[in-house]
Amino acid sequence: MLARLQANRHDDAPWRAGRIFSLVFPPDDPELERLLADVSAQYLAENALNPARFPSLARLETAAADMVAGLLHGPAGAAGLTSGGTESIFVAVSVARDVARERGVQRPFIVTAETAHPAFAKACHLLDIDQVRVPVRADKRLDVAALTAKVGTDTALVVASAPCYPYGVVDPVEQVATLAAERGVPCHVDACLGGLILPFLAELGQPVPPWDFRVPGVTSISADVHKYGYSFKGASVIAFATPELAARRVWFDDGVWGGGTYGTPTPAGTRPAPPIAGAWAALTHLGHEGYRAKAAAVLCARDALVDAVASIDGLRLSAQPDGPVLRMTSDSLDMAAVADAMEDRRWWLNRQPGALHVMLSPLHARVVDELTADLRTAVAEVRAGRTARERAAVYAAPEPTDSATSVTTPR
Ligand SMILES: Cc1ncc(COP(=O)(O)O)c(C=O)c1O
Repeated sequence: MLARLQANRHDDAPWRAGRIFSLVFPPDDPELERLLADVSAQYLAENALNPARFPSLARLETAAADMVAGLLHGPAGAAGLTSGGTESIFVAVSVARDVARERGVQRPFIVTAETAHPAFAKACHLLDIDQVRVPVRADKRLDVAALTAKVGTDTALVVASAPCYPYGVVDPVEQVATLAAERGVPCHVDACLGGLILPFLAELGQPVPPWDFRVPGVTSISADVHKYGYSFKGASVIAFATPELAARRVWFDDGVWGGGTYGTPTPAGTRPAPPIAGAWAALTHLGHEGYRAKAAAVLCARDALVDAVASIDGLRLSAQPDGPVLRMTSDSLDMAAVADAMEDRRWWLNRQPGALHVMLSPLHARVVDELTADLRTAVAEVRAGRTARERAAVYAAPEPTDSATSVTTPR
């Protein structure tokens, strides 16, 4: 079975070689990887649905959530774990909707920048509320003047990102949260990406604009442990400014069915234990010093790439990055052709319309010289006339192979 699984992975992205720039956030830390594998093995079967049966998990969850809340300068006892950024955002929007409805708002809506993650649109769709999107300024940060025009008495939540996915810049959280507070509206900061790296980049001397609970008016923050917290997938923190607000989470207690007491604080029912224990283990094992060292490696890779983009004729940054994410674009080159040329060299940069996007992890510090050299060559190829492949060819389904089909073929 293990051999068959291995064979089936022949076309998976080679993330261990640092060739992809999203989805996996390799910390370049074999010891942490072994630790997480052991933690996972220890907690393979347990279920966090009932904390009374597995109090150890409840303790680990509280400790992990409080560690992250502390990093964000939030109070203890006002945060919980979810399965990921999307679920944390869902919980924040759901609480805001319920609070707005209690205020008597008939048709609540949220206001976000157009750069806010699609998880907000998904939450609004599922919770049957509207999303109003406002433009960003030339520096790609939320335009507060445009926001001011949209926030009204029916607004359930105002959202800022720290940083946003597309451009890697932090929105002007101070101005956004001040406006929200003045109008009596909660303010969520989506730090799914930045929550566990921005504090350390700031310690390393980077100019990170204020974005956490120290900013008056910020009422909730999402921060993913499975991104720059370097635990495996299935762990994010939703933190609130007060325990009272946190108690408003989707505590769903049906009270009608005949199956006994049943209540959950997130949309999930059964919850796997490894992400909870893994989040606690990664946070505890790395600790403040460990995370700062990882942030330093990310910074080293990011700065090398920023310098390379500045020195390659035809390339430029779409925005000056505030964190580990950057987006490169061009006024003269077809960036899809550059992406193709990079893929020929086995680098999978994230494609965006007219741009390429990267999220850097500690492992990338090891490969950044090779990456920038190949980027230089790829751009030269495009300047010399290389064009983009047909989209159909890029997205064509791979030919089935024996090893690919063998996992689905009953034996
Ligand atoms: C800024 C931001 N918010 C939210 C999310 C959603 O996180 P997840 O994919 O863990 O649900 C992401 C994912 O990349 C993100 O970059």
